Amino acid sequence: MLIAQITDLHVGRVIETTSGPIDLLDRLVDAVNEINHSENLPTIVMVTGDISNHGHPDDYLRAKKVLDTLTMPYYIVPGNHDHRQQLRKIFAEHQYLQTNSPFLNYTLEQYSMRIIALDSLNPGTHTGLLCDERLKWVDEQLAQQPEIPALVFLHHPPNKIGSPYVDRMMCTNGETLGKIIEQHPQVKGVACGHVHRDVVISWHRTVLFITGSSAFSYDLMLKDVDDLDPVFEPSVYRLFNWQEETGLISHLCFIGHHPRGLSEGVPLPPS
Ligand SMILES: [Fe+2]
Ligand SMILES: [Fe+2]
Repeated sequence: MLIAQITDLHVGRVIETTSGPIDLLDRLVDAVNEINHSENLPTIVMVTGDISNHGHPDDYLRAKKVLDTLTMPYYIVPGNHDHRQQLRKIFAEHQYLQTNSPFLNYTLEQYSMRIIALDSLNPGTHTGLLCDERLKWVDEQLAQQPEIPALVFLHHPPNKIGSPYVDRMMCTNGETLGKIIEQHPQVKGVACGHVHRDVVISWHRTVLFITGSSAFSYDLMLKDVDDLDPVFEPSVYRLFNWQEETGLISHLCFIGHHPRGLSEGVPLPPS
């Protein structure tokens, strides 16, 4: 099973750059085209939050129009820039969002790996939150099927990355989530966004994958700063390959056109 993850689309934002303005909707178009034309077509795409930049209905409608051109099913997870009710309303045919719970948590059972999406949104703040109700929910979900491998998705990383500016916007109670995950060894990985950089952490007997944005990056900044400027490095998506024999393998994939070389064949190595 191939699972693509795109994250932090921030549709609605147009960023002024040294090369002119960049409309982030165009970056989403590029990401969707890249995935649709990949030699390694994913079974599903997980869209892990910050779909809009301001939670405006128009921005969701524009993002949805592009996401709907994906040739495989896609599933959305809210980020700190998102608005739960708008997501429910605009992505109305996404049945997994239409629950009685105040949170947009769900589990996908129809694939060879269980996909568990956890809502870490705390409205009005950029910091994530896993309250008791959400932590109990994920613990119960994992307890229901201990034999089936699972991949957990949430927007906010539950662990610091060593960048003080970013670490102030992480997930409250992330450590508690780690202790829960540790009790469920079928969790092969936890995948997040929010940081706009690729980071991988060995965490609570599993692997925490933080995937860079498919729209824009932030510079790596390990010292404390008051703000970070966006930077347009090649944008990315992550491709998880789950197979019983190999386990979970992650590939970071770059979006866009980059110079390609011609193969020189496979010369013999010097002896
Ligand atoms: Fe973001
Ligand atoms: Fe975020």
